Amino acid sequence: HNYKLISKSASPLQPEFEQFRCSDDDWSEMESDTLGFGLMPTDYMYSMKCSNDGNFEKGCLTSYANIQLSPSAAVLNYGQGIFEGTKAYRKEDGGLLLFRPDQNGVRMKIGAERMCMPSPSVCQFVHAVKQTVLANKRWVPPCEKGSLYVRPLLIGTGPVLGLAPAPEYTFLVYASPVGNYFKEGLGPLSLYVEDEFDRASRGGTGFVKTISNYSPVLKALDRAKKNGFSDVLYLDSINKRHIEEASSSNIFIVKGDLISTPAIKGTILSGVTRRSIIEIALDHGYKVKECDITVDELMEADEVFCTGTAVGVAFVGSITYHSKRVGFKTGSQTVSHKLYTSLVGIQRGVIEDKKGWIVEI
Ligand code: COI
Repeated sequence: HNYKLISKSASPLQPEFEQFRCSDDDWSEMESDTLGFGLMPTDYMYSMKCSNDGNFEKGCLTSYANIQLSPSAAVLNYGQGIFEGTKAYRKEDGGLLLFRPDQNGVRMKIGAERMCMPSPSVCQFVHAVKQTVLANKRWVPPCEKGSLYVRPLLIGTGPVLGLAPAPEYTFLVYASPVGNYFKEGLGPLSLYVEDEFDRASRGGTGFVKTISNYSPVLKALDRAKKNGFSDVLYLDSINKRHIEEASSSNIFIVKGDLISTPAIKGTILSGVTRRSIIEIALDHGYKVKECDITVDELMEADEVFCTGTAVGVAFVGSITYHSKRVGFKTGSQTVSHKLYTSLVGIQRGVIEDKKGWIVEI
């Protein structure tokens, strides 16, 4: 990363984080699109353990460092783990904002239940996210340059040999400053519709953010990237007819004044950005449908866009399916752009939050 952040060595922990306050000058040498989505380790992480009784002990902040795991930890052997993603934004006046962190806490609870794990309460979850952001305050970029991505993890750290839930769990939260997820930045993406590999199947775990949903798509993603595509769009695994989601985001199509997105039916992640965009679109007077969307309907759309915490709102310029490539409208006059502007405005504290989505810290 070719920018300078004034470096302070890891400092004593609580109670006073004010010393970490970042000034815009710290980031001044950075071009606004320099930050991509690579890991930039920050100063502190938060952790909290839970053993057999299902209750999490009091959590604490420690310096960001490697963790020790038994070779037989359930997460390493059987993939018993889930994660979340949320972001902290710096307002123009320097204040810090979180966007709907409680929604990530709720989703972690749902995911934990599916994966046979105990989970922190929503209150513990939000507290941990706040603590992590405050401790790493100096790493939150000015809003036009990016945000601080916060990654909560819940993993089975206790040892197992036979297939069984772990006897101990760890909840960890770390953070990294990020910019655009895709190398295209806000530029249009080219998506490839995958019909060999599936992302999720009926009765599986596609609706939760388990770590084991993500590595199976790497092969399809790698192949698509080698062929010049930005990302992969997956189809339903039964009929290979309906679109589901992309590797790291949900998908929307716009046709006239109707906005549609695949319905949540057990194979699709209920994205916080997805739900927020639906509400914003309804507030703007658009019709919104959560329904089955065929590939044919996708290819006939006026606009297509992806949503996710990491991705934000990403505009799709083209889609390729069975060697047929179709282009879509992009640019500042589109519906997608209007929705993007409203969302980003709320997230950065520029547009008034009438929904109680913003948590000021
Ligand atoms: C997120 O959007 O927060 C995610 O977790 C997606 C991940 C593949 C980066």
